[in-house]
Amino acid sequence: MDKIEISKTRIFKGEFFLPPDKSISHRAVILSSISKGKCLIKNLLRAKDTGSTLNAFRALGIEINGNLIPPTTPLVKGGEEGFSGEIIIHGKGLYGLREPLDVIDCGNSGTTIRLISGILSGYPFFSVLTGDQSLRTRPMARVITPLSLMGADIRARDDNRYPPIVIRGGNLKPIKYNMPVASAQVKSCLLLAGLYTDGETEITEPAKSRDHTERMLPALGADLKVDGLKVTVKGRTELSPIELEVPGDFSSASFFIVASLLIPGAEIIVRKVGINPTRTGLLEILRKMGANIEISNIHNISNEPVADIYCRGKSELESVDIPEEILPSFIDEFPVLCVAAALANGTTTIRGAAELRVKESDRIKSMTSELRKMGVEIEETPDSVSIKGAETLHGADVDSYGDHRIAMSMAVAALVAEGKTTIDGASSADISFPGFFDIIRRLSS
Ligand code: S3P
Repeated sequence: MDKIEISKTRIFKGEFFLPPDKSISHRAVILSSISKGKCLIKNLLRAKDTGSTLNAFRALGIEINGNLIPPTTPLVKGGEEGFSGEIIIHGKGLYGLREPLDVIDCGNSGTTIRLISGILSGYPFFSVLTGDQSLRTRPMARVITPLSLMGADIRARDDNRYPPIVIRGGNLKPIKYNMPVASAQVKSCLLLAGLYTDGETEITEPAKSRDHTERMLPALGADLKVDGLKVTVKGRTELSPIELEVPGDFSSASFFIVASLLIPGAEIIVRKVGINPTRTGLLEILRKMGANIEISNIHNISNEPVADIYCRGKSELESVDIPEEILPSFIDEFPVLCVAAALANGTTTIRGAAELRVKESDRIKSMTSELRKMGVEIEETPDSVSIKGAETLHGADVDSYGDHRIAMSMAVAALVAEGKTTIDGASSADISFPGFFDIIRRLSS
């Protein structure tokens, strides 16, 4: 695997756009494909994960046109177009997909495999979904159990636990389902399957996970209601085509936000970033730690709130108590929050975090072992991590575990660590953020 070297920086300044939101981009492609007509998606993320979703729908017979090649040189100032593509998807309606001729490869993308499973459970044809080495170890029973209750014939490797997943669907019935874990992927999978039933499917989560599917489906005419943690969708209504724009990804912004807080004298402005409250738990936590983060120019794009985010270097951050129930709102920011905690005064404990063990890597284990290499005192339990803030971090040879968010979080740690850090497997950043290291270089030189 590839390596990248990063040294401590004293400069971190700039104003820039970041890649479009990955979760919203996946949903834009998925919902457009099953709508009836021509959809226009502006600012779609061009990265490996969204490439997996586009390829899946091509394999299912959907025509997709536009510039989809991931960028090599993102633009720091002067435009967003470096990351994004404007694409047209010719949706074929709820029942317009065709049986794929081969196994569908979902790559590294949990969102792709879980959301598409929901749709394919509504089709009487045969389909097989698989992915890379990491995806083939991620839990699928969480979608297979409820989809089976709806009537799909859906099976997977190792007693229905892991991909490949084999589906022969059709004749789904609506269910009322209480999800055992808060997961937007499971919730969205079941809402999509609910579109293929005669009646109302009711899904209740134990805590609020990201709600992009609930925001987007009604824009296509779906009959969907949200009541606290309960979401209800009515099936069999054809979806109308849409035109939408994807906002910048808060999760991609999080690396720059934390880096700027940890580098004295740093100053950044990130433009047009999604600030959906189901995603921005990190902002709340960092503010409690004493960070100075300003949000301005708040407006809506395609039913999602967006804003500009301004951050300035802060010499001291304080440790915090993090309520367990807000974990879903910073689930993807856990690794970079560990880096902030590693330099805060006192000990920060993140509890109720068992889900982090089944992401693109075991993120509790990845962050514990790699931050330890940089001199941090950090302890893990099956579902928590306790991080004692250090005076300073030391450069080290660290590993990304092939996980994009670990690679980018370790880059943030490397920018503030004494000496030089080498990150093995740095190109995994391309999963969600091609050009990440170019921006880091430009801001710190
Ligand atoms: C996602 C939901 C989250 C998140 C993932 C993207 C989505 O996963 O970690 O990166 O797009 O729905 P879970 O829903 O499994 O927690």
